[in-house]
Amino acid sequence: MKLKLTALALAATFGLSGIAQAAGEIVIKFSHVVAQNTPKGKAAEYFKKLAEERTKGRVKVQVYPNSQLYKDKEELEALQLGAVQMLAPALSKFGPLGLKEYEVFDLPYIFKDYAALHKVTEGPIGQQLLGKLDSKGIKGLAFWDNGFKHFSANKPIKKPQDLQGMKMRIQSSKVLEEQMRTLRALPQVMAFSEVYQALQTGVVDGTENPPSNMYTQKIHEVQKHMITTGHGYLGYAVIVNKKFWDGLPADIRTQLNSAMKDATKYANDIAKQENDADLARIAKSGKTVIYKATPAELAAFKKALLPVHTKMSSRIGANLIKSIYQQTGFTAN
Ligand code: LMR
Repeated sequence: MKLKLTALALAATFGLSGIAQAAGEIVIKFSHVVAQNTPKGKAAEYFKKLAEERTKGRVKVQVYPNSQLYKDKEELEALQLGAVQMLAPALSKFGPLGLKEYEVFDLPYIFKDYAALHKVTEGPIGQQLLGKLDSKGIKGLAFWDNGFKHFSANKPIKKPQDLQGMKMRIQSSKVLEEQMRTLRALPQVMAFSEVYQALQTGVVDGTENPPSNMYTQKIHEVQKHMITTGHGYLGYAVIVNKKFWDGLPADIRTQLNSAMKDATKYANDIAKQENDADLARIAKSGKTVIYKATPAELAAFKKALLPVHTKMSSRIGANLIKSIYQQTGFTAN
């Protein structure tokens, strides 16, 4: 960790935050923490293909999946320092940067489905949120979907009270922390790359994620139970180092924007089917029992978790929450 950060500081000192070039070629290092066969992993590869084709090889995109290069917190520091040029962190990970508004996406049950989510990510609120990154030396390019989270544990969960006292791994979001506390569970912030081992060794008892992340991290090998609550959304902002982006030749930026537009459509087209397929794969593994929550059980989770919206409204901004309710037609029932 220390060594890596020293390397980052050196990279910053020697100006690598500008255009990373090798023999006239523009190199984009795109680091992410999930497996290649996930919606984000596949979309990153698709972006690479389109970007290299459309710039006729003037841009080379190097994709580093699975926390190979950096873990969650480090990757954001690396982007700001210019040691990597592109990332797609979960929206839940922008709070520590000072962008608390991004945690609005973590509010339990705020989006009833992908259509409601897209009213935000593809509309003016999404654009405003991306614009807030500028002051952090970051340019926000797009939102990429993943999916809706379910809870997993080593004991059956059927009602909110079943989570009481359980140590639950979360991403670095105060809203997720409050969500777990509201269930009287004990939230533990942890890098994504450490979750499998933490579950295996009992450092934490359970976790939450969409099926694509659960399956590709083999969480089903170390969790006996899962309940399909779909209680919250997990998705991404694709971001670049602003200095790097602004320093690109205009024609290259145009080609990269067009590649990003098509990669975004691809990401959002495959997200639901990938998650549905991975849920079926978890079931087929026979290692995790997937409990399908009944409408009454889902209503109990929703009732238990909705107070998180009010509890976190001063952190996120009551107006932002209200405008999302308006855009999506959110109702408490
Ligand atoms: C997590 O940490 O659970 C996710 O943010 C990982 C990811 O990038 O989907």
